[in-house]
Amino acid sequence: MLSAASIIAGADPAPLVTVTGDLLPDWDIPVNQRLLIISKNQSWLSHGFHKYPAKFFPELPRWAIKRYSTEGETVLDPMAGSGTVNVEALLANRRSVAIDVDPFARLLTRVKTTPLDIAILDRAVAAVLAELDAFEAGGAEARHVAASHVPPFAYQDTWFRPFILEELGAIRAAASRIRDAVSPAEPGPYVDFIRICLSSIVREVSNADNNCTRTVVRQRLQKRVVPGMAIRLFRRMLSVNVGRMRDFVPMAAAAAPVAIPENGDARAIPLPDASIDLAVTSPPYINAVDYPRTHQLEMYMLDLSPPGRPLAEAKRRHIGTEVVRAVDYRTLRTYGLPELDAQVESLYATDPRRAYIVHQYFVDMEANFREVQRTLKPGRHYVVVVGNNIIRNQVVPTHAYLLQVAERVGFRVETYFASEVIRHYIKVPRKERINQDWVLVLKR
Ligand SMILES: C[S@@+](CC[C@H](N)C(=O)[O-])C[C@H]1O[C@@H](n2cnc3c(N)ncnc32)[C@H](O)[C@@H]1O
Repeated sequence: MLSAASIIAGADPAPLVTVTGDLLPDWDIPVNQRLLIISKNQSWLSHGFHKYPAKFFPELPRWAIKRYSTEGETVLDPMAGSGTVNVEALLANRRSVAIDVDPFARLLTRVKTTPLDIAILDRAVAAVLAELDAFEAGGAEARHVAASHVPPFAYQDTWFRPFILEELGAIRAAASRIRDAVSPAEPGPYVDFIRICLSSIVREVSNADNNCTRTVVRQRLQKRVVPGMAIRLFRRMLSVNVGRMRDFVPMAAAAAPVAIPENGDARAIPLPDASIDLAVTSPPYINAVDYPRTHQLEMYMLDLSPPGRPLAEAKRRHIGTEVVRAVDYRTLRTYGLPELDAQVESLYATDPRRAYIVHQYFVDMEANFREVQRTLKPGRHYVVVVGNNIIRNQVVPTHAYLLQVAERVGFRVETYFASEVIRHYIKVPRKERINQDWVLVLKR
């Protein structure tokens, strides 16, 4: 079996190769190769609809899909996030399945993979813009009515200026009234497209820091938010995203719809045995990105976070979560990999809670590996892109441990190589920032 120490030791002397744009699918990337991939397609087509933390640049899943599957086959992303793998699978004429515990991720993936009828979309957009014109011309009464379309959520005045709430309310009301404009089509996908355009401006017009994974208001930022800003940004985003949809439609019109199960979990995949031809994913980093908190304001505006339902409840289902119970870390846990257990023990001496979070991450990832192993056809691949991080001043070599976990559940390690991270759209907090991802290619 591979040892974490030998994997880490082997990583140092590797040369760096820069690839601009696509990686060639027939390139046998050697173990420990270091790549700097300069993406050309980060905002191409529907990829650009919305920011998402630690989002793939499309070239990496595109390489995996072309290398390890053929047209008509089925690709699974068990932690799909914003659906980059699914968009790429669709563009490459593969069927695909997207699983994510986060309802915002599922909505975004659906919108990014659903080609719309452009004539109907144009009518829907015209109807929305007419409503916004009326709001802007309508004075105090219109603003009062618009404010009533903002859903209830805690600390509204902390998160948003009152005039922004009115503008967001007006956009929500306009989106909900497009039924006649899209008739006879089913309005759902058109409304969802407009909701995603709304969501994509929410952070920018809020009082919260635009660039932090946690949604936080920082007084020292003195963020400038002025009346009319939400409407102006929304109009611009709508126009940009309609353009992206226009380009996407001809490339996606004949594609099979992406399957997005409502209650999927990477540790309990609702698919039959041996039904998948390829799985590609990037799991969360341990304890580094708090997805429900990243999208807290967007979830309010999209009605995805009902009042009274604590955020902690949603967070608990996330692999790598920091929401754990004291009873869980009262005793030191062991996983059964000597190097991992030694590191968890050393963390436990100073921070039992973090030690448990690290331990639990690998327990959860083993559950995921077993599920992917079960759902993959024999001889097929699981490509996992994962970053290491620093916890309590210790580097946790997540990729090295995951390679061992993979072997433990019966995968063969075909190769693994590093991909330098040059830019995340949303910054991961400084202490835990990760500058290199590892691409693990596992074979069932
Ligand atoms: C690094 S992000 C994936 C980003 C994605 N590759 C993209 O391009 O947008 C990890 C995702 O794992 C999801 N996740 C966390 N725990 C999960 C679980 N138990 N089951 C399924 N998805 C989970 C998170 O909601 C998050 O969207």
